[in-house]
Amino acid sequence: MITRRNFIKTLVALSLMPKSALLAQDTNASENFAIPKLETGIREGKDVFYDLTLQAGSSNILPNLNTPTWGVNQAFLGATLKANKGDNVHIKVKNNLNETTTLHWHGMKLPAEADGGPHQPIAPNESWLSEYTIIQPAATTWYHAHQIHKTGEHVYNGLAGMFIIDDEESEVLNLPNEYGVDDIPIIIQDREFNIDGSFSYIRSRHDQMMGKSGNVILVNGVRNAVLQAKKSLLRLRILNGSNARIYNLGFDDDRDFIIIGTDGGLVEKTITTNTITLAPAERVEILLDLANGKNLKLVNKVLASSQQMGMMAEDSQAFDIFSIDASQAQSIMQEIPKTLVTHSQIDMENVNKRHFELQMTMGSQAMMSGRVFSINDKAMDMERIDEVVKAGSTEIWVVENTSMMAHPFHVHNAQFKIISNSAGIQPHEQGFKDTVLVNPGSVVEILIEFPEFKNETVAYMYHCHILEHEDQGMMGQFTTV
Ligand code: C2O
Ligand code: CU
Ligand code: CU
Repeated sequence: MITRRNFIKTLVALSLMPKSALLAQDTNASENFAIPKLETGIREGKDVFYDLTLQAGSSNILPNLNTPTWGVNQAFLGATLKANKGDNVHIKVKNNLNETTTLHWHGMKLPAEADGGPHQPIAPNESWLSEYTIIQPAATTWYHAHQIHKTGEHVYNGLAGMFIIDDEESEVLNLPNEYGVDDIPIIIQDREFNIDGSFSYIRSRHDQMMGKSGNVILVNGVRNAVLQAKKSLLRLRILNGSNARIYNLGFDDDRDFIIIGTDGGLVEKTITTNTITLAPAERVEILLDLANGKNLKLVNKVLASSQQMGMMAEDSQAFDIFSIDASQAQSIMQEIPKTLVTHSQIDMENVNKRHFELQMTMGSQAMMSGRVFSINDKAMDMERIDEVVKAGSTEIWVVENTSMMAHPFHVHNAQFKIISNSAGIQPHEQGFKDTVLVNPGSVVEILIEFPEFKNETVAYMYHCHILEHEDQGMMGQFTTV
């Protein structure tokens, strides 16, 4: 039984875990950086048709071992999709796995029936057609499995990929945008392995409570990856695609970089910083200057504040994520614009407020009833609609974390602005967001302008994006009518 005391004991034990526990730190062999293949679909004017296949495969992630993996149009993880604002996308998803799953478009504003959440399951050998018009600006969104109670396992197996949206406004800014050349997807995940090379998913009460973390860090499915930079100015689209791990990202020489985008797209003004805390599902687009020709590493930093912020001990270890070899980079002389785009102002007068309390209930009774994770005293129920929102309206959602650990709160069909956070607003939290990290004991207020899509019966989700928490009930449903 997990008592509060045991819970804290676990945390203490973890903080004593030696750094070498992270396998990714052994510098044996460096591997070539992997760029997921690009799918631009088949275009007929504004209509773009994609054919996706969910498939099982085998990947060589550890030396001399094969790992059974899942992927989308490739053996492990998903191909990168690309489309433009204004496109009508028609995405056919064929399930060649032997389990029912779904494919959800995370960060996308779209009709509920196209969302790919738990209400759009795809049985083995079946196909699902998701069709919607892209109504939002250029952004780094992503997609992943969202099968009820199985999201954690399915994403861990590899059902996740990036979906890049372009638009005319961003094109004229002359930002690096040659995919795989100076515009690089960086999907960061952590995995644990069995001795035979297979992934080791949940194997302890700790994994269940804290969410599944691994001791091997992968970037686009590869460990110890080294990117051979071709240009001295890179745009990195960083996605924390991990099930549960929160990263404090920075470079090993502490150099500054420039934030140009957040979950929902470009920021109004560029932000210079040297560290970003990125929770599961969050994205950030940065510009990185390699003009000095020095090699560098993206690392997870130990922040002095980690303890106060109630972050888990696992998050306060230093380790490498991937390396960049800048020696061959062609030098790019380019002025980086300081002002990027203008966000439409959201009117905050007389808006409806809702309150969400993120809860973890310790103690044997909660464990027995299987109700450890909840929002507003309710665990996820597919048959229950928790909130009904007026389509096209603006609301303030007040999200309070009364548990002992941080939870990244995510809302489907929305890009919101964070208007207050009792724990402070980070640099990359100033733009549009679909996921916000809510620290223990904190209250975050988000301002959401809901799109016009209406559907009285098919719900969208809001949930913690620690996938094991979501799978165990820290999720609710809303409709827009
Ligand atoms: Cu990343 Cu409910 O989603
Ligand atoms: Cu989502
Ligand atoms: Cu959580």
